[in-house]
Amino acid sequence: MNAVEIFEVGPRDGLQNEPGLIPVAQKVALIDCLSRAGFRRIEVASFVSPKWVPQMASSGEVLRQIRRADGVRYAALAPNLRGLRDAIAAGADEVAIFASASEGFSRANLNCSIADSLVRFADVAQAAQAAGLPVRGYVSCVTECPFDGPTPPQAVAQVAARLRAMGCYEISLGDTIGRATPEAVTAMLRAVLDEIGAAELAGHFHDTQGRALENVAAALELGLRVFDAAVGGLGGCPYAPGAAGNLATERLAAWLAAQGWQTGLDAQVVAQAADLAQKMREGKG
Ligand code: HMG
Ligand code: MG
Repeated sequence: MNAVEIFEVGPRDGLQNEPGLIPVAQKVALIDCLSRAGFRRIEVASFVSPKWVPQMASSGEVLRQIRRADGVRYAALAPNLRGLRDAIAAGADEVAIFASASEGFSRANLNCSIADSLVRFADVAQAAQAAGLPVRGYVSCVTECPFDGPTPPQAVAQVAARLRAMGCYEISLGDTIGRATPEAVTAMLRAVLDEIGAAELAGHFHDTQGRALENVAAALELGLRVFDAAVGGLGGCPYAPGAAGNLATERLAAWLAAQGWQTGLDAQVVAQAADLAQKMREGKG
């Protein structure tokens, strides 16, 4: 099969970094548009502390107001049991837990060590599964950390294996600051693939250096078939200095199509969503 799935993260990873507060109605309009584009999974919310990420404080309202499309799973980040409880109450179809492969970013993003975060996430994963929700795991800073420098591939493999052992059905490997090279991605993936099969991995590349598509190519070569992207290239992480937007969904979809991969996406609807995202960024919603 020459199918590749794009997991749309724009409404979460994209919007979380926008400085001006975006009205709920605009977020809902973007998600409703994305729901018509052919995605099977869209990350739309994040139940983190509003003190840490004010833009995501409206996540409950957003999830409650979207028009749900058949066959689409709406996902949300949950950093702790409180976030999980709120995600379930708002109707999230799946949740994601998000650890770091580097200590510096773990402290900056979660205010705790990697080891402590994994203890907390194990509770979240267990409770989510008990409630019948699939859990996705993220590993951040898989090749480089803004605080600690290059990340050893073995550190990524260890955290990914821990998330897998907690029951995460898929582990998304994040180049959080978008500075990865294809060579570094290949070295990192070789270490992770010793622990986890390619079918349970996803690539999550930010595009600071403009090399995200090359990094996707390197991951495709090693068997990965799921990639996260954000419509309009929205994004960045507020706790990762220098992180630029995610790889733009429309660029990734067009590039994949040119290589003969099928994503099942409607390019016209994706373009409409990219337009909406661009207007939101310019404050014209
Ligand atoms: P903390 O300050 O250590 O913990 O934060 P706390 O328990 O003291 O909580 C601080 C305040 O937040 C308290 O309020 C809590 O009640 C409240 P106060 O008592 O001061 O009034 N609080 C909450 N409120 C709502 N929902 C909650 C919640 N939890 C606590 N769930 C904490 C620890 C984990 C909460 C914090 O560090 C946090 O929220 N971090 C999230 C940061 C974040 O969202 N970063 C972006 C997402 S990760 C990312 O983008 C990377 C990714 O895309 C992959 C990649 O690119 O690599 C996934
Ligand atoms: Mg990200």
